[in-house]
Amino acid sequence: MQEKTNDSARFDRGAANWDANAFRTARANAVAHLFGKIVAKLPRRPDLFEYGCGTGQSILPVAGKCRSVTGCDFSEAMLEKFRENAAAKGVENASTIRCDLRTDPLPLARYDIVVCSMTLHHVEEIAELIGKFALLLRPGGTVALVDLEKEDGSFHEDNTGVAHFGFTREEILGAMQEAGFAECSYASAGDYVKPRGARIASYPTFLATGILAG
Ligand SMILES: C[S@@+](CC[C@H](N)C(=O)[O-])C[C@H]1O[C@@H](n2cnc3c(N)ncnc32)[C@H](O)[C@@H]1O
Repeated sequence: MQEKTNDSARFDRGAANWDANAFRTARANAVAHLFGKIVAKLPRRPDLFEYGCGTGQSILPVAGKCRSVTGCDFSEAMLEKFRENAAAKGVENASTIRCDLRTDPLPLARYDIVVCSMTLHHVEEIAELIGKFALLLRPGGTVALVDLEKEDGSFHEDNTGVAHFGFTREEILGAMQEAGFAECSYASAGDYVKPRGARIASYPTFLATGILAG
């Protein structure tokens, strides 16, 4: 277990230049593509909620396939960039909620799909968090989680606020099943490619999905 402090200040400081990182943007585009494929298979245009949405790179490209997209984050600076990006792209069905599900009350609205990309590893108690995702869903709703597979601790330059060096398949599927998700699947979501010192490193990621048992 890494350093436990996970407050929004670090992300607030990073928000202004978040989208300037080409490796991060390439990765977010790939995740948006995966989320888009999941959304396209749903029976109707969904109300989509992303936890830890950052600047919205992984869900704003999908907004056109959704009835609504809601970006939730504990960093107000990230949410400001999310709203700027939505306006710049002409996305009119996007909104934001500032919330830390570890400590804040659950938002009141319910959704057809909850997605979470690269945020789980910042939260120590993932079983509790995935349990809250279940509470945010309408019956039969979908959860889609993208994050790092087990890594050696080199993914972040500074591991402050990093609660997990990635996850095993068993940890993720176990937490999803405990939260009441059925038909759970776990597959590769490709590599997160980024510079690590003088070299370019590849970090495997996963996509885990499940359906809230009715
Ligand atoms: C690595 S970024 C991922 C951003 C986006 N999902 C993407 O894939 O491009 C992690 C995001 O999660 C947010 N975050 C971290 N811990 C959080 C928490 N406990 N509650 C809400 N948001 C959190 C951060 O502010 C940041 O925007």
